Amino acid sequence: MTTAILSALPEEQGGLVQALEQREQFQYAGRVFWRGRLHGQTVVLGLSGIGKVAAATTAVVLFERLGAQRIVFTGVAGGMGEGVQVGDVVIATQFLQHDMDASPIFPRWEVPGYGCTQFACDPELSTLLFAAAHAYLTNTQADIPRSSGVARTHLARVHQGLIVSGDRFVSTLAESIALRTTLAAAGHQALAVEMEGAAVAQVCSDFGKPFAAVRTISDRADDSAHIDFPRFICEVARPYADHIIAGFLQRQLVGV
Ligand code: ADE
Repeated sequence: MTTAILSALPEEQGGLVQALEQREQFQYAGRVFWRGRLHGQTVVLGLSGIGKVAAATTAVVLFERLGAQRIVFTGVAGGMGEGVQVGDVVIATQFLQHDMDASPIFPRWEVPGYGCTQFACDPELSTLLFAAAHAYLTNTQADIPRSSGVARTHLARVHQGLIVSGDRFVSTLAESIALRTTLAAAGHQALAVEMEGAAVAQVCSDFGKPFAAVRTISDRADDSAHIDFPRFICEVARPYADHIIAGFLQRQLVGV
């Protein structure tokens, strides 16, 4: 069973490549992939680059060329839900493309041909990711606020729910509020926004393969998102990826 660990950017992948045993490199479709053993599991590590098309291409390569049987995405996201703060973690239960709009031919956000607006994540993989993230945050609470350099007044938490994706870096409070309010009016309570997950979820649905995603909140998708994002991704995203993915793979191995 080969698990693909996918991220958009190298910082989001942390030190997973360095930790890989018996590692081999592959290049395909302009991307570099690594296959090897990590915490007793066979894994393929991939970097998609930013955006839905890049992510979808990479997911197809993982299934068609590299033998992946499931995909776990690890990366950062902008917090949108109330109480979803920088340094928190969101485990996706569903994904929606917030920039999908084929109305009035199809309802807003519905993916034409699929008859749905959301793609669900695999519950078992998501439960393992949640347990790994919870254990990591519980053990490291004291370190996170200081090392992030971001003002924090609350303890980091793990949330579970809807993540929305689109080909936009959301970097104003006005846009974030508009997006959240419009989605909420239609019953979609978005916890976080990023630029790849929904595309990977759609590809996984096409291939009938399980998908799960963990996103660390790097910014609040507001007017300071462009300052918080690079700072957070350099200083904190790496240990989050290393520890949460390690915890996930170890839990998968012992079946808890
Ligand atoms: N990834 C991290 N922060 C983001 C934001 N504010 N908008 C879109 N993608 C993001």
